Parts: sequence; C-alpha cells; structure tokens
Amino acid sequence: MAPVNAACIQEPTHRPDPPLLQEAQGIPLIDLSSPDVDAIVHDIGHACRQWGFFQIINHGVPLQRLHRVEEAVRKFFHLSLDEKRKVRRDARKVMGYYDTEHTKNVADWKEVFDYTANEPTLAAASVDEDDDRVAYWENQWPQNPPEMREACQEYAKDMLELATRLMELIAMSLGLPARRFEEFFRDHTSSGRINRYPPCPSPELVLGVGPHKDPGVLTILAQDEVGGLEVKRKSDGQWIGVKPIPDAYIINLGDVLQVWTNGQYESVEHRVMVNSVKERFSIPFFLNPSHYTMVAPLEELTQEQNAVNYRSYNWGKFALTRKRSNFMKLQVENIQI
Ligand code: SIN
Ligand code: FE2
Repeated sequence: MAPVNAACIQEPTHRPDPPLLQEAQGIPLIDLSSPDVDAIVHDIGHACRQWGFFQIINHGVPLQRLHRVEEAVRKFFHLSLDEKRKVRRDARKVMGYYDTEHTKNVADWKEVFDYTANEPTLAAASVDEDDDRVAYWENQWPQNPPEMREACQEYAKDMLELATRLMELIAMSLGLPARRFEEFFRDHTSSGRINRYPPCPSPELVLGVGPHKDPGVLTILAQDEVGGLEVKRKSDGQWIGVKPIPDAYIINLGDVLQVWTNGQYESVEHRVMVNSVKERFSIPFFLNPSHYTMVAPLEELTQEQNAVNYRSYNWGKFALTRKRSNFMKLQVENIQI
C-alpha cells in the first residue's frame, strides 16, 4: 500500500474523528414512486431546508445502466498509472483522468475520471480563448475498457432525465411552476465523475475529499456499499455519515441553487473519509446551467422576501476560471450582499 504523502495530511482540526461510520440520523429518504406527488414535493422542500441533502429510492433509473458504468470504471482504475495517464485531464479544456486534486490546499486521497455530459453542443460552439462567456470541455475516453465510453454516455442521459424531474419537484416545493428552471439548462454544462478512493494506511490523517460545497445546481451521487461520505448537519454542525442504501441516490444542493432561491435552500458542506481495508467508488453527476447563464436570485423569491441576498455572476466565466486554476475562487459567501 502506498504510504501517505505529506501533501495529503490534514490539519489536526480537520482530521476525521472518529474514523467510524455513523448512522445517517435523519437524512430524509424519499420514495419517488409514491402516487402522492404533493407529499413528495412537501418532503423534498423539507429536506432541502433542513439538510440540503436527501436520498431517493424507486427513482426509475435502470440499475443495469449504473452497474455497467461501475464494472467498466473498475477495470479502468485497475490499469497501471501510465495507462490511465494516457487520458489525463487538461484542466483547461479536456476532461479525463487525474490522481491529485486539492480541497482547501490539502491533497485528497482519491483518483478521478471526469467527462462532460454535453459535449456535442459545447464543442461545436465557436470558442474564443478570451471569451469569458463560454466554458466548454471535450471528452477523452480510454481505449481500455472499450465499453466505458458508451456506458458513461448512456448513464449521463439517465442522470439528466432524473435531474430534470428533481428540478421540477424542487420548483414546486418553492411554490414555482414545475418548469421554472428549464430555461437555464438549454446548453447545460453538466458533467459526470467517477471517484476511486484507494485503501489508506493512515485513514485518520487524510480525507478522500476535504470539506467543500458543490458549486453547481445539484449533485446526484451513487455510492457503493463501503461508505465514507459525511454531511455537516445544519442544526448543530456535526459530521453525519451517510449510510449506503442499496440502489438509492444521494441528492445534494449546490451553490447555484442557493443563489437562485435567494438562500432559502442552502448548499451544505460535506467530506469523504477513507479506510485502510477497502477501496471505495462513488459516481456523482453534477447538474450545471448553460455556460452563458447569469446566476442571480429568482425575482419571484426576492419579491417574496423583499431582499436580494446575492450578487449575480456568470456561470461560464466562473466555471472556466475554476477549472483553469483548479481552485474554487467563488464561494457563495463571497457574493452574499
Ligand atoms: C464529493 O462530494 O466530491 C464526493 C462524494 C463521495 O464520494 O461520496
Ligand atoms: Fe461534493
């Protein structure tokens, strides 16, 4: 097992404590197959306000599609480092594989493969390097295993469909028309990711991913049976482990939704613990708006609250800057009025 690299060692105050998976006390579990849509909308609204996180079951995504991705990426990550680096990500433009990322200046204990879920539209856009309205990425796929490309692309379609449905339910939970958010996703910049967290000789010193909030609209996460994701509970700031539930997806809200809702729904901090025995895989899908979207609080909601709590910002410009420097420059706290 590779020893712990000094760059991965967390400050004592950030170290996982204790390195045990707690029960997910209270993280809401929502059955999307319930015929009572009003009840689903109510439960989603409650979960968004209380937690910024919930899990869904009976979501309609064909499980064999997820399993196909899981099998393909397992083969990919078990290739040699040299082989994986043939599809190395270039943070500026090309998605792919990388084995180092820093969250708040400390290296995460993980390796990652990223791909954009809207390549044809965005790659076709005429792009001027200095045009800060445009953020686009191209994909690159490994030759081995050959099925990985199709598996991921098919899966991304399922995720977009599910994300669209979730956005309708979220809109309704805010008292808005179901399709209120549709206009923001015409040229969406959503992406898929696969995380592999290798076993670690000193799991108490590191984090798979350090504490962070997701920058986009929402994240749909599949985690395997190993566990390690922790959410900072809003009510008391405690780290709560999200216990894996077979075939469930974890949904968490991102900064864009926080701004759109003028702060009614907040994106919530989370982090990932690793262990010394088992590798862990997680497969997030990040729903992001069109590259030219000006992200700003929705007028209906600011009227209701009689206040505008955030300055607006250009999503494409933000996304490009962030990927270039591989560091999140914009945090919702910084645009709070
Ligand atoms: C992340 O939030 O970046 C990853 C979550 C996970 O692996 O559970
Ligand atoms: Fe995250």
